[in-house]
Amino acid sequence: MSGRTRGLMSSDTYAATLARSQEIEAELKVNPEKFRVLTGDRPTGALHIGHLFGSLNNRVRLQNLGVPIYIVIADYQVLTDRDTFKDIATNVRELTLDYLAAGLDPERCVIFPHSHIPELNQLFLPFLTLVTMAELDRNPTIKEEIQAAGLKQINAAMYTYPVHQAADILFCKANLVPVGKDQIPHLEMSRLIARRFNKRFAKKKRVFQEPHPLLSEAPMILGLDGGQKMSKSRNNAVMLGATADETAKLIKKAKTDSERHITYDPEGRPEVANLLLVASLSTGRTPEEIADEIGDGGSGKLKSFVTDALNEYLKDLRARRAELAQDPQLVSDVLTKGVEIARAEAQKTLNEVREVMNMNF
Ligand code: TRP
Repeated sequence: MSGRTRGLMSSDTYAATLARSQEIEAELKVNPEKFRVLTGDRPTGALHIGHLFGSLNNRVRLQNLGVPIYIVIADYQVLTDRDTFKDIATNVRELTLDYLAAGLDPERCVIFPHSHIPELNQLFLPFLTLVTMAELDRNPTIKEEIQAAGLKQINAAMYTYPVHQAADILFCKANLVPVGKDQIPHLEMSRLIARRFNKRFAKKKRVFQEPHPLLSEAPMILGLDGGQKMSKSRNNAVMLGATADETAKLIKKAKTDSERHITYDPEGRPEVANLLLVASLSTGRTPEEIADEIGDGGSGKLKSFVTDALNEYLKDLRARRAELAQDPQLVSDVLTKGVEIARAEAQKTLNEVREVMNMNF
């Protein structure tokens, strides 16, 4: 970690966050009611198995532990690093269908697009006064995103969206935010804003508590073309909504190596290890065990094993997804309900905020 990024995420912070996440996991099982979870995604397309194994399953697990859970669809955030907006509505729909198919239950969790919660913008503005330009400029995740998107001109929302993200999190007083490592700098900013808000405006009556990131131990699934992150745009991803045939075709094309004997060696044989990992996550067996079973069967046998295991694992989810997609009203109903609940929470918080800021007239 370079010195310039220190303060927002040093390696100390990462180790400490991981340790704290493990403590919280233990507490969650005993006292789920002490927590309120908020997390979310940008609607850039339908989800793939990397999302399922990396975050969706974990959300469903938290929901099933009885923790209240909010899922923000960060549609404004899409405007920070891409020109097109024409697919946003379709993407929101696909994303919502993936959530529901994976087991998020609209009776127990609140799913909402943040563009429909005007109160978030009213929190955003005072929050902007609590951070400096230098702090915004120092965020390593923002720098990476600017690079990755190859932006020549950077709009102001790119630098400020982590502050809007603080509003996404703090409006409902969430104290736990399951995220990947890349989001830690944003979480640090939310924590800073909560702390500074209380210090500046709410000395006697603490309005916000600092939200904790919850890092999961979920493994990272690579793309089927080897080495790269799984992503729809690279055509190396098994989409949740894909058919069993499409899945088979994609896995058939997956990169492996020429060694016939199958072993689980993530360092030395990353492509083979990645397929074994998918098979392991789909069957609940260890990758080593599966490798032993395939033995000298080579890539061909490995691929047919992975295909069968994954298609079997996804069977119910896919059937549910297809059924839900038949109902043209469903997504809109789920989001309307989510927006209603989220807005009521946001209005409560905004009232408190105005109160302590001397802006209740
Ligand atoms: N920044 C997140 C991403 O790029 C999406 C997001 C927006 C989010 N608001 C959030 C995640 C609040 C967790 C909590 O994926």
